[in-house]
Amino acid sequence: MTFEIRTVTADELPGWIRTAEAAFGWTPSAEEIENDCRRLEVERSLAAVDRGRMVGATSAYSFNLTIPGPLSVPAAGVTAVGVLPTHRRRGILTALMRRQLAEMRERGESLAVLYASEAPIYGRFGYGAATTQADLHIDPRRVELREGIPQPGETTLVDRDEARHILPVVFDRFRREIPGQVDRPPGHWDAWFHDPDSHRGGASGRFYAVYTENGEHRGYAAYRVKGEWSEGTDGNIMRVTDLVATTATAYVGLWNYCLSVDLLSRVEVHHRPLDEPVRWMLSDSRQLRLRDVGDALWVRLADVAGALQARHYAVEGTLTLQIHDPFCPENTGIYRLDGGTNGATCRRVADNPDLSMGVDVLGSLYLGGITAGELARGGRIEQHRSGAVRRADLMFGTDQAPWCATHF
Ligand SMILES: CC(C)(COP(=O)(O)OP(=O)(O)OC[C@H]1O[C@@H](n2cnc3c(N)ncnc32)[C@H](O)[C@@H]1OP(=O)(O)O)[C@@H](O)C(=O)NCCC(=O)NCCS
Repeated sequence: MTFEIRTVTADELPGWIRTAEAAFGWTPSAEEIENDCRRLEVERSLAAVDRGRMVGATSAYSFNLTIPGPLSVPAAGVTAVGVLPTHRRRGILTALMRRQLAEMRERGESLAVLYASEAPIYGRFGYGAATTQADLHIDPRRVELREGIPQPGETTLVDRDEARHILPVVFDRFRREIPGQVDRPPGHWDAWFHDPDSHRGGASGRFYAVYTENGEHRGYAAYRVKGEWSEGTDGNIMRVTDLVATTATAYVGLWNYCLSVDLLSRVEVHHRPLDEPVRWMLSDSRQLRLRDVGDALWVRLADVAGALQARHYAVEGTLTLQIHDPFCPENTGIYRLDGGTNGATCRRVADNPDLSMGVDVLGSLYLGGITAGELARGGRIEQHRSGAVRRADLMFGTDQAPWCATHF
């Protein structure tokens, strides 16, 4: 079978969206297509075309990704990956991934990130699962924050128009501090605020609770409420999609707000890291329940040396890494990494390596969310020099687990 891979035009975008969505078994409404168009980048949207029909799709967002430092670097956010059921397993995704990776490298993006629908798909293309997330469930009737935790600010409910001005500014401050976060370009905010009925899962429209301290907006919680009354008894569910705090006190204040809203039987905070400090702030820590725990952001180093020297490292150290990249053989080689708290250099060498791994495994290690020890014990890293796995963990580790608050 022959097929062509090419960039779509703006006119073709609605049909291209329908193709990508069909691969997931979805039929988007005109409103949903219009909303997707607000954030998609046409010039980065690729189609596989068979005899004039679109049969496969992928696109990428031009994000700024926060990496350990923290520093913000350009990264491709791969999205809308789909191949029609009529054309699956004929190499179309492979061709799309190859073209997309070449385009990223041309743009000078040393990193790509994505969310995977299924874990076995992306390792072969050099992506590794790099963050772990969960939904947090708490019954607010059984728990409260421990006494004595300071909350100097106040929380205000604002309407959508006010939120449209406040939230992007607060979010941008927040996302720059945490490895794994991506920025939200204006089109993403437009799509997010559009909030169509079909995205509400039977719950209310969004509420926006903004936390203010000394006259400054320091955080916000965006949430919906799902009415659950049974036999005259209240039991609403609060679904928090964003809990964004730029200070420790804002974090406390926003959690306190969420746990104190009346008529709730459950507060759900979605897509959170596993090291949430709220556990240690609760009067009963066991009331924090983790649901839907799994991998979240996958990372690919499109340019191994460029990506390794872009981030900072927790301690000064040197590692010689042998990297295998069958999908992008230009990356295969032995690299000497000299890293520290102020920066790093990385260059190819002919030395004996301390560690060997696939480029997908390096992706898992990159943000500091998965340890080299875990990967080595799982047979994914080979150690050639005693102590090298430990050194890798000291260097790559971060104070706070990396995570991404933005689904794309
Ligand atoms: C996942 C999907 C994009 C794969 O597209 P495709 O064109 O069939 O993939 P390819 O033919 O290029 O497959 C390349 C290789 O990956 C393997 N592969 C592809 N999808 C896989 C999957 N879901 N699970 C396990 N292996 C998979 C193929 O078997 C093939 O292996 P081989 O090279 O050893 O023969 C397509 O099945 C699809 O659209 N699925 C539904 C939507 C979806 O999940 N999209 C991904 C969103 S993140």
